[in-house]
Amino acid sequence: MYYTLKRGLRPGPVLVLIHGAGGSRLLWPPQLRRLPGATVYTLDLPGHGRSGGRACDTIGCYAEAVAAFLDKVVVERAVLMGHSMGGAVALTLALDFADRVAGLVLVASGARLRVAPAILDSIRTDFARTVELISRAIWSPGANPTLVERGRQALVEAGPSVLLSDLTACDHFDVMERLREIASPTLVIGGSADLLTPLKYTRFLAEHISGAHSVIIEGAGHMVMLERPAEVTRAVLRFLNEKPLPTAGAG
Ligand code: COA
Repeated sequence: MYYTLKRGLRPGPVLVLIHGAGGSRLLWPPQLRRLPGATVYTLDLPGHGRSGGRACDTIGCYAEAVAAFLDKVVVERAVLMGHSMGGAVALTLALDFADRVAGLVLVASGARLRVAPAILDSIRTDFARTVELISRAIWSPGANPTLVERGRQALVEAGPSVLLSDLTACDHFDVMERLREIASPTLVIGGSADLLTPLKYTRFLAEHISGAHSVIIEGAGHMVMLERPAEVTRAVLRFLNEKPLPTAGAG
């Protein structure tokens, strides 16, 4: 897997950023990729960005790839921050590889991520139109047009096969009944104007994961971390600094 690494100056939490469907490491803002004080790994999942391999069509397959990545870089435990599908990957690691997870930051995600069948069909039949539809849905009306164009371009570069695999993985993902098993400290972040993973999904996570904190960013859409990087970064720093996460760190 391709990744970028920003080393923290002091021993402290290791943060791993996991992008969403059809995305890459570049869909995290620089403020998070270079989070002050933390060691940050920003991943391209298999088949995405500069990574080799094939995209997965199950979330479990991505979770295994991230666990193997942690082995490779000799990180025993990390705080996993996932956006949308990346949040599903992080949740799966917290459930099935709990000893590798020091904390969770779930951004615009959910415990179940069904995808409208019309979207899955239209990826096959009219990819260009699907990209336009998704591009319109993932931003709030006030989003910066440069960011909107960058997001559109990222989907085009991912291509239909990767997007179909990712959204198939999302469509089959459902851990609504298992959230009580999660013991990791958790922060849930959502945008109040998110159309793809509505506030109901964020609230469900916050209400069912023991001790979880939630931060709602008013007016932000599904790409909340790019629309409002300062607020998201502040929330993540507060989470990392407030709660001692003694088990985070390199092994
Ligand atoms: N957290 C909390 N509640 C959730 C949830 C989550 N992650 N996922 C689903 N639910 C709720 C729904 O709100 C619904 O509640 P209701 O019965 O009170 O209305 C119930 O669980 C069942 O929902 P769902 O599993 O989504 O099935 P559905 O047949 O109602 O709808 C879709 C299926 C695909 C149409 C719908 O999920 C949807 O519109 N999804 C978002 C759009 C999309 O495709 N996004 C991805 C595009 S990239």
